[in-house]
Parts: sequence; structure tokens; C-alpha cells
Amino acid sequence: MQDQFLRRIDYLRISVTDRCNLRCKYCMPVDGIEWMPHDFILSFEEILRLMKISTQLGFRRFRITGGEPLVRKDILDFLREAAQLPGVEDLMLTTNGMLLPEMAFDLKAAGVQRVNISLDTMDRTRFFENTRGGDVSKVIQGIFRSLEAGLNPVKINVVVVRGFNTEELPSFLKLAKQYPLHVRFIELMPIGVSSEHRNEFVSIKDMKELLGLNEDDLPTKDIPGGGPAEYFRPSGYKGSIGFISALSRHFCDTCNRVRLTADGKLRPCLHSKHEVDLREVLRSGSSDQDILNVFAQAVWHKPAEHHMNNEAWQDTRVMSQIGG
Ligand code: GTP
Ligand code: 5AD
Ligand code: SF4
Repeated sequence: MQDQFLRRIDYLRISVTDRCNLRCKYCMPVDGIEWMPHDFILSFEEILRLMKISTQLGFRRFRITGGEPLVRKDILDFLREAAQLPGVEDLMLTTNGMLLPEMAFDLKAAGVQRVNISLDTMDRTRFFENTRGGDVSKVIQGIFRSLEAGLNPVKINVVVVRGFNTEELPSFLKLAKQYPLHVRFIELMPIGVSSEHRNEFVSIKDMKELLGLNEDDLPTKDIPGGGPAEYFRPSGYKGSIGFISALSRHFCDTCNRVRLTADGKLRPCLHSKHEVDLREVLRSGSSDQDILNVFAQAVWHKPAEHHMNNEAWQDTRVMSQIGG
């Protein structure tokens, strides 16, 4: 469907849990967060019902996120059912990759087309510290298992943080050169804990400089995806490199997505606190048509753009409660 600004909205990001097996420093506070109580979380039946309703509004692409989506019990059964819903053309996952070594083939068999995997550093100690306990070798193994399983394309998310991984950026180019991997460098967004780290922000322009890339290289359009990344494929590369410029050059005028949080709130914009409580509507005995009307209203009122560049901007959720 279209929103009031005539943008075509057909991409739903669904956070299936706020829990995570890591605690990345830019995502979660040091003491963690209080998990949502179980009865706040939508059941898979409720999520499937909302997906079905959204397909009637023209939603076709569905990205499953978290927290970490693969830690939720029975996730594979859910994905299998989700992939079979009429109207679901693209079923995708964003994951930290820790569980991919054992799950990549099962995901493919369940009907997941592709995965985006977070990997901010390839250094063992740095990864352990930044994720407060993660094992980078598992993630790297998970990346290659995903390629073997035929998940395609496999994209790597590198959130760039000044003083943390800036010097390591050129080594990520090797990944994209040697393997069919699409490495995306992402500007740090001031959401949740990251709002206190605005001074660690690195712009895409500066990233390109650090990488030794030419500002005038022409982007390629041949990498499948519905998101905001701009991709480049230098000659001789098996994969590509991409940039997600959430702040320095935002892409709100071409936004195509809304989000569903694990506790059932429809969030029309990543960066707006405004949410519509679909859980309440679902659990009060509403008909599919009533739910569809509330859903459509929320999408119609999607804000025109974000205001993250305003220093006073603060969110009510941390990133792990939204799913990126
Ligand atoms: P595809 O292009 O379909 O592969 O997905 P994607 O790149 O949108 O998904 P992913 O979950 O891998 O997100 C990559 C980065 O883009 C994360 O840092 C997200 O927070 C960010 N992102 C995704 N959607 C939006 C958006 O609507 N606005 C902004 N500002 N950032 C977004
Ligand atoms: N800014 C940019 N990207 C972020 N992510 C998590 N927090 C932030 C942030 N503050 C990324 C994760 C993951 C994706 C869902 O969002 O690294 O790859
Ligand atoms: Fe977990 Fe992802 Fe947040 Fe890291 S960024 S703590 S992996 S939800």
C-alpha cells in the first residue's frame, strides 16, 4: 500500500524477541535490559495472523529480526509456516550469526531466502569485548555455512564506530573481494545507548576515505535487497561493498518499510516513538478486517522523515527492542 507521502510500503520487519545471546556495546546497556514478560510477546500464531493481514495490504517482503531471532524457541517451525503464506515473496533474517553454524541449512530448508549477519570486527579479543562475551569464530563459521547452504545473498553488517573498528575497515574489503559476500558499512545511529556516543560517529564520506575508495565511483543496482544500502562492485570482486548512510544522507523519501516489535507494537518509523498497539487489538477479539483497518491507518500515517540529527532526540527503546 501507499502511505500519505505516496511511498510504496511493502516491507515488514518483524522482531520476534527482545532477547539476545550477545550484548553489543552500542546496542545494549552494560547491565542488559529487563526482558519483556512472556505474555507481552506476540505468539507465533499472532504474528502469522498479522503477516497474513499485511499481505492483503500488499506487504510482500518480511525480515525477521530480534534481539537475536534464532534464540527464540520453535523459530524454525514459525519460519516454515511464514514462508508458505500466500503473498510472502521474500523471507529474510537479520542475525548476529552465533547460531548459524548449526542452523544455516535448517533455515534454508525452512524457506528463508537470505540472511544479513552482524560482524563489526574480525579480531577475536575485540569481538569478545564489544559483544560482551561473543565468539567471532562462530560468526565467521556461520557466514560460510550460510554460503554453503545457498542462502543468497549473504550480507555482512559492519557498524562503524570511531576508535573501535575504524582501523580494521580495509580488512573487510578482502572478504568482499574473495567471497560472494556483500559487506555493508553502517553509520552509527544514536538510538538507545548509542545516543551517548555521537562523538564516535563516522560518516560514509570518512569511511570511504579510510577505505581508499573514490567518492565518484558509480553504485551498482544488481544486489537483491529492499533496504537503504548503496552498493559498489569494484572490478575483480566476487561480492560487493555497501554503505548505509542513516544520518549523513538519509533515505526517508524512499523508505518502504514498517516494523512490528516483539510486544506487538507497529512502529511506522525506526526513529519515531510513535507506535500502534496491535497486540491490544489482536487480543480484544477483533476481526481480521478491524485489524487490517488499524494496520492500514498506522502505515498511512508513517512520518515523512526522521529527526535523529537533532541532539535532543531520544528514543524510548534500545535497538535490541526494535530490531534495526
Ligand atoms: P535488505 O536491504 O533487504 O537486505 O535489508 P536491510 O539492509 O534494510 O536490513 P538489516 O537488518 O541488515 O539492516 C542493516 C542496517 O540498516 C541496520 O543498521 C538497520 O538499523 C539499518 N536500517 C534498516 N532499515 C532502516 C531504516 O528504515 N532507516 C534507517 N535509518 N536505518 C535502517
Ligand atoms: N546504529 C546502526 N546500526 C545498528 N545496529 C544495531 N544498533 C545500531 C546502531 N545504533 C545494527 C546491528 C544489526 C542491525 C539489525 O542493526 O549491528 O546488524
Ligand atoms: Fe544482540 Fe544485535 Fe544488539 Fe548485538 S546488536 S546485542 S547481536 S541485538
